[in-house]
Amino acid sequence: MLQLNENYLNLNQNYLFSEVAKRVAAYTEANPDKPVIRLGIGDVTKPLTKKTIDALNEGVSHMANAETFKGYGPEQGYMFLREAVVDYYKRNGAEIDADEVFISDGAKSDTGNITDLFGPDNTVLIPDPVYPVYMDSNTMNGRHIELIDANKQNGFTPMPYEGLKADIIYICSPNNPTGASYTRDQLKKWVDFALANNSLILFDAAYECFIEEDVYPHSIFEIEGAKKCAIEFCSLSKTAGFTGTRCGYTIIPKDLVFDASNGTKLSVNSMWTRRQSTKFNGVPYIVQYAAAATLSEEGIRQCKENINYYKENAKIIAKCFEEKGITYFGGINSPYIWFECPNNMYSWDFFDFMLKEIQVVGTPGAGFGKNGDNFFRLTAFGSRENTIEAVKRISEFLDRL
Ligand code: MLT
Repeated sequence: MLQLNENYLNLNQNYLFSEVAKRVAAYTEANPDKPVIRLGIGDVTKPLTKKTIDALNEGVSHMANAETFKGYGPEQGYMFLREAVVDYYKRNGAEIDADEVFISDGAKSDTGNITDLFGPDNTVLIPDPVYPVYMDSNTMNGRHIELIDANKQNGFTPMPYEGLKADIIYICSPNNPTGASYTRDQLKKWVDFALANNSLILFDAAYECFIEEDVYPHSIFEIEGAKKCAIEFCSLSKTAGFTGTRCGYTIIPKDLVFDASNGTKLSVNSMWTRRQSTKFNGVPYIVQYAAAATLSEEGIRQCKENINYYKENAKIIAKCFEEKGITYFGGINSPYIWFECPNNMYSWDFFDFMLKEIQVVGTPGAGFGKNGDNFFRLTAFGSRENTIEAVKRISEFLDRL
């Protein structure tokens, strides 16, 4: 008889953002005359930059010509893009090699798929609250998960402590959902812990382009020793507005070599090459061509204009909580503002209440873990007009509570 993967029984019924979308759809269907402002999922609203669009068009023209047409590409990505990633890292202060770069359709897929490489008996350390993909993908594999509390007391940047045991450690900085970031010194402590315990850090840098204060590293590979204990995931989704275009990259250092139970040395970089060659046929040539242009100095300069626009939105949202005396995190080196629900309300109740009363959608902190129960996340990725209107409605709403 067919046996299904019953670990799926341990998941919430819906993925967090599907649940949010379901509730919003039900509300808009019942109230078509009440326009809703969506500051829930971190999806961008600014169009792609000119540099990206020009390169996309150029890529399309290559496909129209027999001399430049491309069929299947290398599963790990075209070398021209892998080298563009290396150059981007160099400009940000980290040295990596092109054969350590793997091109994918985004950090969400890779942070989930990477779990294919690890044995079933590892202990996985996941901060609470957390981007639900880490939690769900390890739950699907039936792995033992240990949670580490991220909360107001530790500024949402939990640190290793005496007696901590973890084989695989997820870190996201700047953090989704809390907007908090690890400084270089803090990250060095995690790297030292991983090196001392033969553990592996899975570092999600999807929001690095929002960093403006130099104490926060853009990449874990700015930290000494990280190449022996970390994998980094990043994408062009937030950096360049590729949420619908899809292109990401994962850096797996060649120094990541661990002992198999039969004494063989296993290279994580070779395992991922093998995994991707079997299960993935690469990102479309046209998208990779545009991604390489986007990562050039001029491409990133144009992206920064959009990032600065979102950062201004973040300031507008943060100012509202500042004025109301509400505790919040993020909003400076991050597109997320993570604030305490008024009157200690449960965040799903606050979500429903805001939707019904002022038609503003955010993401309830409870969807990211129990330490998010009384927190709420707003994104700065909306349009300026919607952000200003949402803040006006929230401000009046808070006064009424
Ligand atoms: C979020 O809102 O947390 C992100 O947009 C989700 C993602 O990047 O997959």
